[in-house]
Amino acid sequence: MNKLAECYRGKAKTIYTTDDKNFVILKFRDDISILDGMYIKKIARKGMINNQFNYFIMNKLSQLGIPTQIEKLLSHNETLVKKLDMIPVELVLRNRAAGSIVKRLGIDNGTILDPPLLDLFFKNDSMHDPMINDSYCTTFGWVSKLNLVTMKKLTYQVNNILSKLFDNAGIILVDFKLEFGLYNNAIIIGDEFSPDVSRLWDKTTLKNMDKDILRKNLGGLIEAYEEVANRIGVNLH
Ligand code: TMP
Repeated sequence: MNKLAECYRGKAKTIYTTDDKNFVILKFRDDISILDGMYIKKIARKGMINNQFNYFIMNKLSQLGIPTQIEKLLSHNETLVKKLDMIPVELVLRNRAAGSIVKRLGIDNGTILDPPLLDLFFKNDSMHDPMINDSYCTTFGWVSKLNLVTMKKLTYQVNNILSKLFDNAGIILVDFKLEFGLYNNAIIIGDEFSPDVSRLWDKTTLKNMDKDILRKNLGGLIEAYEEVANRIGVNLH
Protein backbone atom coordinates (compact mmCIF):
# COMPACT_ATOMS: atom_id res chain seq x y z
CA MET A 1 0.00 0.00 0.00
CA ASN A 2 1.55 3.31 -1.07
CA LYS A 3 1.08 6.63 0.66
CA LEU A 4 -0.18 9.30 -1.74
CA ALA A 5 -1.33 12.84 -0.91
CA GLU A 6 -2.20 14.58 2.34
CA CYS A 7 -6.00 14.84 2.40
CA TYR A 8 -6.73 16.26 5.86
CA ARG A 9 -4.68 17.94 8.56
CA GLY A 10 -6.29 17.87 12.01
CA LYS A 11 -4.98 19.29 15.28
CA ALA A 12 -2.75 16.31 16.10
CA LYS A 13 -3.05 13.93 13.14
CA THR A 14 -2.64 14.13 9.38
CA ILE A 15 -4.52 11.81 7.03
CA TYR A 16 -3.01 10.59 3.76
CA THR A 17 -4.74 8.86 0.88
CA THR A 18 -3.30 5.58 -0.41
CA ASP A 19 -3.48 3.80 -3.75
CA ASP A 20 -6.43 1.81 -2.37
CA LYS A 21 -9.53 4.03 -2.06
CA ASN A 22 -10.79 1.99 0.90
CA PHE A 23 -7.80 2.80 3.12
CA VAL A 24 -6.06 5.89 4.46
CA ILE A 25 -2.99 6.42 6.63
CA LEU A 26 -3.24 8.18 10.01
CA LYS A 27 -0.05 9.98 10.93
CA PHE A 28 0.16 10.99 14.59
CA ARG A 29 2.16 14.20 14.86
CA ASP A 30 3.99 15.52 17.93
CA ASP A 31 1.39 18.30 18.18
CA ILE A 32 -1.07 18.80 21.00
CA SER A 33 -3.88 21.35 20.91
CA ILE A 34 -4.92 23.61 23.75
CA LEU A 35 -8.12 25.64 24.13
CA ASP A 36 -10.11 24.06 21.29
CA GLY A 37 -7.15 24.20 18.94
CA MET A 38 -6.40 27.89 19.50
CA TYR A 39 -2.83 26.91 20.30
CA ILE A 40 -0.84 23.94 19.07
CA LYS A 41 2.22 22.90 21.02
CA LYS A 42 4.90 20.39 19.99
CA ILE A 43 5.80 17.63 22.43
CA ALA A 44 8.58 15.26 21.41
CA ARG A 45 7.58 11.56 21.23
CA LYS A 46 3.84 12.24 21.57
CA GLY A 47 3.03 11.13 17.99
CA MET A 48 4.91 7.88 18.48
CA ILE A 49 3.26 7.17 21.85
CA ASN A 50 -0.30 8.01 20.78
CA ASN A 51 0.01 6.05 17.55
CA GLN A 52 1.10 2.88 19.34
CA PHE A 53 -1.27 3.48 22.26
CA ASN A 54 -4.19 3.88 19.86
CA TYR A 55 -3.18 0.81 17.87
CA PHE A 56 -2.93 -1.27 21.05
CA ILE A 57 -6.38 -0.20 22.31
CA MET A 58 -8.18 -0.44 18.96
CA ASN A 59 -6.58 -3.80 18.24
CA LYS A 60 -7.74 -5.10 21.63
CA LEU A 61 -11.28 -3.87 20.93
CA SER A 62 -11.26 -5.43 17.45
CA GLN A 63 -10.15 -8.76 18.90
CA LEU A 64 -13.16 -8.61 21.22
CA GLY A 65 -15.56 -8.05 18.33
CA ILE A 66 -15.87 -4.25 18.48
CA PRO A 67 -15.67 -2.85 14.92
CA THR A 68 -12.78 -0.37 14.60
CA GLN A 69 -11.10 1.17 11.56
CA ILE A 70 -7.68 -0.20 12.53
CA GLU A 71 -5.82 -2.31 9.92
CA LYS A 72 -2.06 -2.31 10.41
CA LEU A 73 0.67 -0.52 12.33
CA LEU A 74 2.91 0.92 9.59
CA SER A 75 5.61 2.72 11.52
CA HIS A 76 6.31 4.34 14.89
CA ASN A 77 3.84 7.15 14.11
CA GLU A 78 1.64 5.85 11.26
CA THR A 79 -1.25 3.39 11.08
CA LEU A 80 -3.21 2.10 8.11
CA VAL A 81 -6.97 2.39 8.69
CA LYS A 82 -10.22 1.89 6.82
CA LYS A 83 -11.46 5.08 5.19
CA LEU A 84 -14.70 6.02 6.92
CA ASP A 85 -17.40 8.56 6.20
CA MET A 86 -17.10 10.29 9.55
CA ILE A 87 -20.19 11.17 11.57
CA PRO A 88 -19.95 14.70 13.06
CA VAL A 89 -21.14 13.59 16.50
CA GLU A 90 -18.80 12.82 19.43
CA LEU A 91 -19.89 10.44 22.19
CA VAL A 92 -18.47 11.10 25.66
CA LEU A 93 -18.83 8.45 28.35
CA ARG A 94 -18.31 9.54 31.96
CA ASN A 95 -17.66 7.17 34.87
CA ARG A 96 -16.70 10.04 37.18
CA ALA A 97 -17.38 13.76 37.12
CA ALA A 98 -14.52 15.84 35.70
CA GLY A 99 -14.06 18.69 33.23
CA SER A 100 -17.10 20.27 31.62
CA ILE A 101 -19.73 18.43 33.69
CA VAL A 102 -18.20 19.75 36.91
CA LYS A 103 -18.39 23.31 35.57
CA ARG A 104 -21.89 22.85 34.15
CA LEU A 105 -23.55 21.17 37.14
CA GLY A 106 -21.34 22.30 40.02
CA ILE A 107 -20.83 18.75 41.29
CA ASP A 108 -17.64 17.61 42.99
CA ASN A 109 -14.72 16.57 40.80
CA GLY A 110 -14.37 12.78 40.99
CA THR A 111 -18.01 12.02 41.92
CA ILE A 112 -18.79 8.45 40.81
CA LEU A 113 -21.49 8.45 38.12
CA ASP A 114 -23.47 5.23 38.43
CA PRO A 115 -24.77 4.35 35.92
CA PRO A 116 -22.21 6.16 33.74
CA LEU A 117 -23.36 9.24 31.81
CA LEU A 118 -23.29 9.55 28.04
CA ASP A 119 -23.11 13.00 26.42
CA LEU A 120 -23.31 13.95 22.75
CA PHE A 121 -21.36 16.82 21.18
CA PHE A 122 -21.52 18.26 17.68
CA LYS A 123 -18.04 18.05 16.13
CA ASN A 124 -17.47 21.61 15.03
CA ASP A 125 -14.32 23.49 16.07
CA SER A 126 -15.57 26.97 15.17
CA MET A 127 -18.63 26.41 17.39
CA HIS A 128 -16.43 24.79 20.12
CA ASP A 129 -18.10 21.35 19.89
CA PRO A 130 -21.48 22.30 21.43
CA MET A 131 -23.44 19.78 23.48
CA ILE A 132 -26.44 18.31 21.64
CA ASN A 133 -28.95 15.48 22.11
CA ASP A 134 -30.51 12.73 19.99
CA SER A 135 -33.15 14.93 18.39
CA TYR A 136 -30.51 17.28 16.89
CA CYS A 137 -28.95 14.27 15.15
CA THR A 138 -32.24 13.37 13.50
CA THR A 139 -33.37 16.91 12.65
CA PHE A 140 -30.05 17.90 11.08
CA GLY A 141 -29.48 14.47 9.53
CA TRP A 142 -26.08 13.95 11.19
CA VAL A 143 -26.79 10.31 12.02
CA SER A 144 -29.85 8.04 11.83
CA LYS A 145 -31.69 6.96 14.98
CA LEU A 146 -30.70 3.36 14.38
CA ASN A 147 -27.01 4.16 13.88
CA LEU A 148 -27.01 6.34 17.00
CA VAL A 149 -28.37 3.40 19.01
CA THR A 150 -25.48 1.28 17.69
CA MET A 151 -22.93 3.99 18.53
CA LYS A 152 -24.23 4.27 22.10
CA LYS A 153 -24.24 0.49 22.56
CA LEU A 154 -20.65 0.26 21.31
CA THR A 155 -19.58 3.12 23.61
CA TYR A 156 -20.94 1.28 26.67
CA GLN A 157 -19.24 -1.94 25.51
CA VAL A 158 -15.94 -0.10 25.04
CA ASN A 159 -16.35 1.35 28.53
CA ASN A 160 -16.78 -2.11 30.05
CA ILE A 161 -13.72 -3.47 28.27
CA LEU A 162 -11.43 -0.49 28.85
CA SER A 163 -12.49 0.21 32.46
CA LYS A 164 -11.31 -3.33 33.31
CA LEU A 165 -8.13 -3.02 31.24
CA PHE A 166 -7.12 0.24 32.95
CA ASP A 167 -8.27 -0.94 36.38
CA ASN A 168 -5.91 -3.93 36.08
CA ALA A 169 -3.13 -1.39 35.49
CA GLY A 170 -4.05 0.66 38.57
CA ILE A 171 -5.75 3.38 36.52
CA ILE A 172 -9.30 4.79 36.68
CA LEU A 173 -10.96 5.41 33.31
CA VAL A 174 -12.71 8.66 34.30
CA ASP A 175 -14.13 9.56 30.88
CA PHE A 176 -13.41 9.29 27.16
CA LYS A 177 -14.57 10.48 23.78
CA LEU A 178 -15.28 8.27 20.77
CA GLU A 179 -15.94 9.13 17.13
CA PHE A 180 -17.60 6.89 14.58
CA GLY A 181 -17.92 6.59 10.83
CA LEU A 182 -19.61 4.50 8.19
CA TYR A 183 -17.79 1.83 6.18
CA ASN A 184 -19.99 -0.07 3.71
CA ASN A 185 -22.98 1.29 5.67
CA ALA A 186 -21.77 -0.22 8.94
CA ILE A 187 -20.92 1.80 12.07
CA ILE A 188 -17.21 1.57 12.89
CA ILE A 189 -15.12 3.30 15.57
CA GLY A 190 -12.75 5.84 14.02
CA ASP A 191 -10.36 8.58 15.07
CA GLU A 192 -8.34 7.58 18.15
CA PHE A 193 -8.32 6.43 21.75
CA SER A 194 -5.42 7.93 23.68
CA PRO A 195 -4.73 10.05 26.77
CA ASP A 196 -5.46 13.06 24.51
CA VAL A 197 -9.16 12.12 24.36
CA SER A 198 -9.72 10.49 27.75
CA ARG A 199 -9.17 11.15 31.44
CA LEU A 200 -7.03 8.60 33.23
CA TRP A 201 -6.31 8.86 36.95
CA ASP A 202 -3.87 6.86 39.02
CA LYS A 203 -6.04 4.65 41.26
CA THR A 204 -4.01 5.33 44.40
CA THR A 205 -3.00 8.99 44.10
CA LEU A 206 -5.80 10.15 41.73
CA LYS A 207 -3.16 12.10 39.80
CA ASN A 208 -3.91 12.96 36.15
CA MET A 209 -2.19 10.80 33.55
CA ASP A 210 -3.84 12.46 30.53
CA LYS A 211 -4.20 15.73 28.62
CA ASP A 212 -5.48 17.51 31.76
CA ILE A 213 -1.77 17.70 32.70
CA LEU A 214 -1.44 20.25 29.90
CA ARG A 215 -4.80 21.94 30.56
CA LYS A 216 -3.74 22.42 34.19
CA ASN A 217 -0.12 23.17 33.31
CA LEU A 218 1.16 20.47 35.68
CA GLY A 219 4.19 19.34 33.64
CA GLY A 220 5.39 15.81 32.89
CA LEU A 221 2.81 15.03 30.22
CA ILE A 222 4.87 12.75 28.05
CA GLU A 223 6.24 10.85 31.05
CA ALA A 224 2.65 10.23 32.24
CA TYR A 225 1.51 9.05 28.77
CA GLU A 226 4.51 6.73 28.67
CA GLU A 227 3.71 5.37 32.13
CA VAL A 228 0.11 4.59 31.15
CA ALA A 229 1.34 2.88 27.99
CA ASN A 230 3.87 0.81 29.95
CA ARG A 231 1.36 -0.15 32.64
CA ILE A 232 -1.23 -1.48 30.15
CA GLY A 233 1.45 -3.34 28.17
CA VAL A 234 2.00 -1.22 25.05
CA ASN A 235 5.40 -2.13 23.69
CA LEU A 236 6.67 1.33 22.66
CA HIS A 237 9.36 1.28 19.98
P1 TMP B 1 -15.25 17.43 28.70
O1 TMP B 1 -14.98 17.34 30.15
O2 TMP B 1 -14.56 18.60 28.04
O3 TMP B 1 -16.71 17.38 28.36
O4 TMP B 1 -14.57 16.15 28.02
C1 TMP B 1 -14.89 14.85 28.42
C2 TMP B 1 -13.90 13.87 27.83
O5 TMP B 1 -14.03 13.80 26.42
C3 TMP B 1 -12.45 14.23 28.09
O6 TMP B 1 -11.72 13.02 28.30
C4 TMP B 1 -11.99 14.90 26.83
C5 TMP B 1 -12.85 14.24 25.77
N1 TMP B 1 -13.24 15.14 24.68
C6 TMP B 1 -12.41 15.26 23.59
O7 TMP B 1 -11.37 14.62 23.52
N2 TMP B 1 -12.79 16.09 22.57
C7 TMP B 1 -13.95 16.80 22.59
O8 TMP B 1 -14.23 17.54 21.63
C8 TMP B 1 -14.81 16.67 23.74
C9 TMP B 1 -16.09 17.44 23.81
C10 TMP B 1 -14.41 15.83 24.75
